[in-house]
Formats: sequence, C-alpha cells, structure tokens
Amino acid sequence: MNAAARVIRSHDIIRSMKSDDLDLTIEKLVFGGDGLAHHEGKVYFVPGALPGEKVLVRVMNDKKNYGKTKRLKILANSPARVDPPCPYYGQCGGCQYQHIRYPEELRWKEYQVREGFERHFRPDAKRVEPIRFGPGDYHYRNSVTLHRTSGQTGTAQRLGFFGVDNTSVLGVENCLLANQRLEAVFKSRYLMKKGEDDRTFKCAEDGEIVSSQEAKLYRTRVGKESLWASSAGFFQNHAAVTELVADRLLDWVVEARPKCFVDLYAGVGTFSILSAWDVPDVCGVEENPNSMECLRKNFLERNIKPAGMIEGRVENVFPAFSKTLPSEGIFVFMDPPRSGIDRSLSLFLAESDGIGHLAYLSCDLAILLRDLKLILSKGKYVIRQVVPFDMFPRTKHIEVMVLLVNLKNG
Ligand SMILES: C[S@@+](CC[C@H](N)C(=O)[O-])C[C@H]1O[C@@H](n2cnc3c(N)ncnc32)[C@H](O)[C@@H]1O
Repeated sequence: MNAAARVIRSHDIIRSMKSDDLDLTIEKLVFGGDGLAHHEGKVYFVPGALPGEKVLVRVMNDKKNYGKTKRLKILANSPARVDPPCPYYGQCGGCQYQHIRYPEELRWKEYQVREGFERHFRPDAKRVEPIRFGPGDYHYRNSVTLHRTSGQTGTAQRLGFFGVDNTSVLGVENCLLANQRLEAVFKSRYLMKKGEDDRTFKCAEDGEIVSSQEAKLYRTRVGKESLWASSAGFFQNHAAVTELVADRLLDWVVEARPKCFVDLYAGVGTFSILSAWDVPDVCGVEENPNSMECLRKNFLERNIKPAGMIEGRVENVFPAFSKTLPSEGIFVFMDPPRSGIDRSLSLFLAESDGIGHLAYLSCDLAILLRDLKLILSKGKYVIRQVVPFDMFPRTKHIEVMVLLVNLKNG
C-alpha cells in the first residue's frame, strides 16, 4: 500500500471509530496465537497483535471476564513483526504466526507450555525443557488435507482450506507450509465422490503424490528409516521433527531399560521402530486397518516379531491386554489423535500399578493437560520430563511429549 492510501485508510479508521473502541498494549501471546491485554481489570484477546504493540481494537464479543476483539490499527509496531509471506494469511485458518519472526514464535510457544504446566502442575513447570525445532519454518508438511469448495458432485472443482471462521472453505493456489512437490495439487481440479468432503494428498519418498481416495501403500522416510505408510492412514507430517521426537524417546527408553515397549495408537509403528529397536518385546494397539497393514510390513522387513499387535480401539482392548504383560519393566508410549485419550483409559492408567514408564506425545496442549490431570489424580506417577517440539511452525499447534514415572516400579 502506498503512503497516500495508508493516510486515507487511517482517516477511514478514525472516521469509523466508535467511542467504546479501546487502546490496548499487548502483554503476551496466549495458546492459539492471540495477543493478550488488560483494560480496567478485564482481559482482552487480540488476533494478529504482538507483545509490546499498542493497538486500537473493537470489542466484538464482550463477556463478563474477557472480551474478544478485532484489531483496527497498530499504533506502535513490535520489532518482532514481519510481513506474512502468504497472500492468504488472515483469511485462511491454517496459520497464526506468519507475522512474527520465527525465533520469537518458538519463544512464545515454549512459554505457553511452561505456563500451562505452571497453572495445572505448578512444581513440575521446571521440568519443561527448551523447545526443539527443525531446520526451517516453511515447506515442511509432507501431506495436506483439502476440502470441497462446492457441493457439486458431477463437475471437477478446486479444493481448499477452512477459513479463519472455521466454516467457509477458501480455494488456494499454493500453501507455503507444504512440501513444494505438492504444489500441483493446489492448482488441479478434482471430481469429488458423493459423501467425500475432503481429500488428503501425501508425498512418497520416490516423488509420487498419493491421495486418500485410493488407499495406496507408499514409502516415506524418517531419518535413516524408510517406512511403509498408507495414503488412507495417519503419518507424521514433519519428518525432521519426528526424528527429534524419536531421538528423545529413544533416550528415555535406553535409560529405562524396559522388557516391553507398548506402542498405543501405533500407526505404522514409527516409534517402535525408531525408538524401541533394542527392547526385547514390542506390542501395541492401532485401530486403522490400513495402518496396521503397513505396521506389519514395517516389522516384517526389520524382523521384529511383536509380542502382541492388536487391531482395535485402545480404550476397549488395552485394559484386558495389559493383564497379559509382565508385572515389571513396562514402558508405555501413547500418541493419540488431537482429541486425546478416552476418559475411561485415563482412569484406568491412573489406577494402574503395572506400568513403570508412561510417555505421552500430544499435539494439543489443552487436551494433554486435561488427560494428565486424570492420569496423575491417584498419585501413582510423577512428571519426570516435558519436551515441547515445534512440529507445526507458523500454526498455533505445539507438540509436547511428557515422561511419567511410576513411584513404585518406574
Ligand atoms: C497421532 S497418530 C499416531 C500414529 C503413530 N504414533 C505414528 O507416528 O505413526 C494417532 C493414531 O491413532 C489411531 N487411533 C485413533 N483413535 C484410536 C483409538 N481409539 N484406538 C486405537 N487407535 C486409534 C489413528 O488411526 C492413528 O494412526
């Protein structure tokens, strides 16, 4: 925007100002990426504002204890502010941190994890380690899920991402988070089947792009391991950061020297293979048959003979299965979907004496804290370590892995 246009915009804003618009100074970034400020004893959230900035805002949603606002103008800029490189930033719901320098994003994400543990498990906040991150902040995603832009079935259509309202779908020509090999996917048109609301596209190791429409097995690489995965199953999005997670988990496993590694929500067996290769017995649970097929192939290729790999839902099968495990030397690792673990499983784990070490990898901080509160409620475990990872640069999401140790047999 040129200077004249900026002056006109400023005049427009001043003309349209309301008497109850507020002048706020941002104190910090909260989980989700909004700036937080106080005014007359009340908390206000300001999307797109940075700590230290003075902003003019309009209150859009005024509650008793807090208000959600829309930023009208930045009155004083933060030196951490940068121009977002993506033309869809602010309309697309995918990214929340493109307007801040990457080292500052990392600093605030680590702060949010520490603050979460401080609020819920105060003495254990000191167990939060520095955030670990990969080599770059863009082009790291090896898969994208795109949604219908139209309800039609007979004609090919562009696909897109959910907008900031989380309801409308925005067609995009490219995504800067995605591996550049996925670029063609954004430019193409797709004939969607009846009932097919979205489609996931993934990059195979050999350059092929596979999609969830075809349930195809493909190879993908994490560090030195080439793994089978399914286009219709889960696979970690950020290979370099997955390797960092696996290395940390390997340290914990080596130190614990378990007899048995239990991989819950096992997917294609990624962490059994990368972190538990030296453990005498491996077993686990996964509900997706496509992922299970890959897990079996991955294990077979490496001559891993699992002590028990069950296809089913963890909350249904693990309580009975755990009775068949040895009474000591059990290391349970769980990496559930974003929604976390079933309440019944948290309660079961809270009462369980048989698990020596329990590592929980989560991509949702609030859900992780919710589940940990229940798991720790009977006083059987203590928090030993908490490690944040920036698995999703430029977005609000934070991956966190926590090691719990059983006070009796850990
Ligand atoms: C975040 S992924 C983790 C996958 C695995 N750790 C990996 O890296 O390949 C979650 C996995 O849990 C599976 N899943 C989701 N809900 C489940 C449940 N209730 N019981 C068993 N598996 C489940 C999904 O199919 C998915 O493979």
